[in-house]
Amino acid sequence: MSSASPTALPALQGATVGALVAAGARLLEAAGVSFGHGTTNARDEAAWLVLWRLGLPLDSPLGEDPGSIEDRPVAPADQALVATLFEERIRSRKPAAYLTREAWLQGVPFYVDERAIVPRSLIAELIADGGFDDFLGAHTQRVLDLCTGNGSLAVLAAMAWPEIHIDAADISDDALAVARINVERHGLQHRIRLLHSDGLAACPGPYDLILCNPPYVNAASMAQLPPEYRAEPTLALAGGTDGMDFIRRLLHAAPARMSEHAVLVLEIGNERAHFEAAFPQLPVFWLDTSAGEDQVLLVERAALSCFSLPE
Ligand SMILES: C[S@@+](CC[C@H](N)C(=O)[O-])C[C@H]1O[C@@H](n2cnc3c(N)ncnc32)[C@H](O)[C@@H]1O
Repeated sequence: MSSASPTALPALQGATVGALVAAGARLLEAAGVSFGHGTTNARDEAAWLVLWRLGLPLDSPLGEDPGSIEDRPVAPADQALVATLFEERIRSRKPAAYLTREAWLQGVPFYVDERAIVPRSLIAELIADGGFDDFLGAHTQRVLDLCTGNGSLAVLAAMAWPEIHIDAADISDDALAVARINVERHGLQHRIRLLHSDGLAACPGPYDLILCNPPYVNAASMAQLPPEYRAEPTLALAGGTDGMDFIRRLLHAAPARMSEHAVLVLEIGNERAHFEAAFPQLPVFWLDTSAGEDQVLLVERAALSCFSLPE
């Protein structure tokens, strides 16, 4: 693993916001850090770190944009603060959000720390874009966000559907503590109930909609994760040999917790092949997301009830 050397830091001694972002991006690239926790490339990540450290709005225009703050001077003391943040990002290999204690999803800010994974679920964009609204209706009143982690999907669902009540469940007390911060930050305590539950065990139901971004990373992929992902709780990612350990139990238990016309929206990341091998006969709808049509699926209660699913 490479790390920032003291000789790398003078490269950040640019005199303007734009120069710091450019120099920071070069540092991140040279260090070979991984992205995927809110940004996908070195420049965006550098802009995030520089703007946050300088207390500037994260959507500040840079580059050629009108009103750009590219040429704004940065005092030497602030340059040093920025340099220290880049050094920490490169040395620790923690996702930027763990350093800034904040992540954004669909324009909504969430508190985050090492007790819960950094929110990035594709289900968030489906909620915002109405990606499965055709399966909802007046009957959709009780919603479960299973494996809630930081609580982001429960919060976004509560914002999208003002009438509904949500149970948000997780097996991790640490994650639930983070979720509580986010539920309170957005003033949703009266609509979101946090539950400690192993799978569906303590989730009463019946639910009209279950959202679930479970641990689904298969063992071979877990062994190759970059350090940024290994900085997150293993419990949040590891899904067993084929990634389907949690999902097998869930699909078996779900019908008993679902109302007649309920649906389950399930994120499986890059595990479609493993999913189809595990549940070859199960009819599901693949939902279109920015990462493709094979990362999130929807399954109706009727389909789950009809198929005898392996535990
Ligand atoms: C991939 S994270 C999803 C977090 C959040 N929903 C998100 O999208 O950012 C998976 C979550 O499942 C939780 N989890 C793992 N095993 C569980 C179990 N048996 N029952 C309930 N939650 C579990 C982990 O603690 C973690 O918070």
